[in-house]
Amino acid sequence: MQFQKFSRTGLMVSRLCLGTGTFGKQTDEAEAFRVFDKAADAGVNLIDTADMYPGGGTLAEVGSSEEITGRWLKGKRGSFIVGTKGGGPMGSQQWDRGSSRKHLLDAIDASLRRLDTDYVDLYQVHMDDAETPLDETVEALDIIVRSGKARYVGVSNFLAYRLARAIGRQDTLRLARFVSAQPRYNLLFREIERELLLLAQEENLAVIPFNPLAGGLLSGKYRQEEKPDTGRFSPEVGQFGAMYVARYWHQREFETVGRLQDIAAETGEPLTKLAVAWILANPTITSVILGASRTEQLTDTLAAADYALDPELKVKLDELTAEYRRGDATR
Ligand SMILES: NC(=O)c1ccc[n+]([C@@H]2O[C@H](COP(=O)([O-])OP(=O)(O)OC[C@H]3O[C@@H](n4cnc5c(N)ncnc54)[C@H](OP(=O)(O)O)[C@@H]3O)[C@@H](O)[C@H]2O)c1
Repeated sequence: MQFQKFSRTGLMVSRLCLGTGTFGKQTDEAEAFRVFDKAADAGVNLIDTADMYPGGGTLAEVGSSEEITGRWLKGKRGSFIVGTKGGGPMGSQQWDRGSSRKHLLDAIDASLRRLDTDYVDLYQVHMDDAETPLDETVEALDIIVRSGKARYVGVSNFLAYRLARAIGRQDTLRLARFVSAQPRYNLLFREIERELLLLAQEENLAVIPFNPLAGGLLSGKYRQEEKPDTGRFSPEVGQFGAMYVARYWHQREFETVGRLQDIAAETGEPLTKLAVAWILANPTITSVILGASRTEQLTDTLAAADYALDPELKVKLDELTAEYRRGDATR
């Protein structure tokens, strides 16, 4: 495993992070523990969870990923850097979501209870909340840091201009500053290269992207005409599955995956490994968040950590997927 400095903090994190988005729905606790063990054995020291996980979870199911994570961490909390997120829907009241002071201060306490820990290393706003003034959100996060409940704060799913504004308010108000961004990024979704990554370079923000395999599409295991009954693109995960179909289940994406598979075959490496290695080859990326519903899925993606992507191959992959730099915020 390789390690990288986490923004301007004193932390070194593994270049691969373990995501827990399937734990508690697609992945039961016993299998989740095996996934954790396999990632830890490979040297992963960074864990990503969120209060609203598992992905596609009902209100009765949300929170179970943090609970499973807390149980696995028992006795080894000090050996891992744990990040969670708040802001997603956690109850039926209007204020059970979003980035208001009321919700974030409740949400961090609930996350700590589920994780069975006194603090998280990284507390992230899961998504931008246009209804709450930025000042209210950054002040609430500052309280969370000063109370010792989180060591650092970050964002996820923010457009670059909103993150730039938020950092500006934190500096002006002398509040705890965001140290990281968690955006969606993969060979089929490269929108962040246009602005967010430039902001991250300039502000020395850690970037920990999620969705490196486009939900599994970049494994090449799907055929467009055969919609699956189980997994990320299926009704098994409710609306979440429908969202993934809307994002990626298109002829253009399937054709690109076919061409990427041809390149992978030429190199003799699985496309899953190349897809993760391609993200790691970007020097602005700190750590890639891997997702797995089953332990064996991690074999190829974990192997990307010690695989140096040939610069010519990187150019080939960059060129083949250049059209996905344009992005489409509606997908
Ligand atoms: N901040 C956010 O808004 C946000 C959003 C999403 C995720 N995340 C975080 O990022 C993590 C990773 O994101 P992601 O799950 O979307 O990553 P991803 O790598 O794009 O997708 C992971 C999924 O792909 C399939 N897969 C993985 N390895 C495979 C392999 N070797 N062969 C075939 N299929 C394979 C599995 O789904 P199936 O078994 O169902 O096919 C797995 O759950 C999550 O766990 C979560 O912690 C954050």
